[in-house]
Amino acid sequence: MFARIKSLDAILATAQRKSLHRTLGWFQLTLFGIGCVIGTGIFVLTAAGAQKAGPGLMLAFGIAGVICIVAALCYAEIASMMPVAGSAYTYTYATMGELLAWTVGWALILEYAVAASAVAVGWSGHFTGTILEQTLGIHLPTWLISGPLALGGVPGGFINLPAVLISLLVTALLVIGTSESAKVNAILVAIKVVALVVFISLTLPRVELSKFNPFLPAGVFGGIGTGLGAVGAAATIFFAYVGFDSVSTAAEETKNPQRNVPIGLIGSLLFCTIFYILVAAGAIGTIGGQPIMGAPGVPLETGSAALATQCAMPQFHEALVCSNEALVHVLRVIGFGTIGNLVGYAAIIALPSVVLVLMYGQTRVFFVMSRDGLLPPSWSKIHPKWKTPYVVTTGTGVAVAIAAAFLPVGKLADYANAGTLYAFLMVAIALLVLRKTEPDRPRSFRTPAAWVIAPATVVGCIFLFVNLPWQAMAVLFGWGAIGMVLYFAYSRHRSYLGRGIEEDGSPIGSPLLPPAE
Ligand code: ALA
Repeated sequence: MFARIKSLDAILATAQRKSLHRTLGWFQLTLFGIGCVIGTGIFVLTAAGAQKAGPGLMLAFGIAGVICIVAALCYAEIASMMPVAGSAYTYTYATMGELLAWTVGWALILEYAVAASAVAVGWSGHFTGTILEQTLGIHLPTWLISGPLALGGVPGGFINLPAVLISLLVTALLVIGTSESAKVNAILVAIKVVALVVFISLTLPRVELSKFNPFLPAGVFGGIGTGLGAVGAAATIFFAYVGFDSVSTAAEETKNPQRNVPIGLIGSLLFCTIFYILVAAGAIGTIGGQPIMGAPGVPLETGSAALATQCAMPQFHEALVCSNEALVHVLRVIGFGTIGNLVGYAAIIALPSVVLVLMYGQTRVFFVMSRDGLLPPSWSKIHPKWKTPYVVTTGTGVAVAIAAAFLPVGKLADYANAGTLYAFLMVAIALLVLRKTEPDRPRSFRTPAAWVIAPATVVGCIFLFVNLPWQAMAVLFGWGAIGMVLYFAYSRHRSYLGRGIEEDGSPIGSPLLPPAE
């Protein structure tokens, strides 16, 4: 069962047979990474992170950032060896076999599609708060702007319509094609980065050190499965880094991928880590970020009715932990209401770029799984005019819209984190397997001290995973069980590798012959 390993040569040959256009350079790729990484995590989940850890949120950003940097070093080496679409799924196929590759591909749906839904919901919060309510004075009914209480939404909620609309708009952009989408993406990244620079330069000079005291009101460890304390906050705020790896999913569409993919991966991640720590310092150092406690040392659960009740009290009106638009809120409280609104507009304009990159990653993973026969062949159809995998893109867009319609941002983010941590862990293991099985294959990027970095990634991922709320851990296992059923019911028999053929019936890994005259 674990022996169905697709050789690296076969993977590269398959990619050449049905390939995507190589159009992206290192700069576009780094922008692509930043476009994905800075988003709902920093603009929205900063509040949830503060509720879990207080000022320890800064430590949480550091912990999650270090784990992502070691994971990125693993991704960079593998992506430079296998510059093909599919990311962790493809790497696992080449090293640990089809069954585990399938589980990784399945988990990547959480990482990409579910994360895209989370960001769409974060966007919706800014859109209804800053544009509709603050600017236009329009108050949409609750049932139109939030998911139902039964699924963790708010009382009176039913469907998050703005989140649905933005998901479908981004889908349309992706169907039209990568190069147009990448240009739009670059502009949006610039807007987002300017907004964060403005935030940092207005808040840092006003920081009061007393706001950081106590620094760890909920301790470092809140307990396995509680999602509390600095490490619990790290597990949630890890979402703010999710997506840097989508740079590697674009490897097949990148010029000179051996050089450009490592630059894109590590460059975008380092850039974002520095920004996050500065933003967290600015937010907490100005308006404070102490959690609202249920019992001494135990913060109330984020997204719970008890926390919502406390937040409705006048004394918590200005609390960071109660805000749905954390950064905008901070600026309003310190007296920069207009600039705060502008930052809100920046988020509204720029967060769709995050949805875009995440959905892009998802469609490419589906595309490759379909090209391998594990998903229906029609999914990998390429549009004759736009040259995009339009079937899978449209299907992904609809699924993202449905999840965004009904689930709240915090839960979606935690589920996405669970899937992402599994994928990162498998990539680290794949790196070590390749060092053993393919020691001589050229690598334009070699992970330094791989036998330290890769195990550190594995330990870091497990560590963050067990510090997620237990419900998110359960989602990964439940989702994995559904995936197993599908694999044995459908994919296993249809796998081209299992049948020893390529999509057109020729032997696996064979070069594509020109059509007969
Ligand atoms: N890292 C991305 C965000 O924070 C997913 O929105």
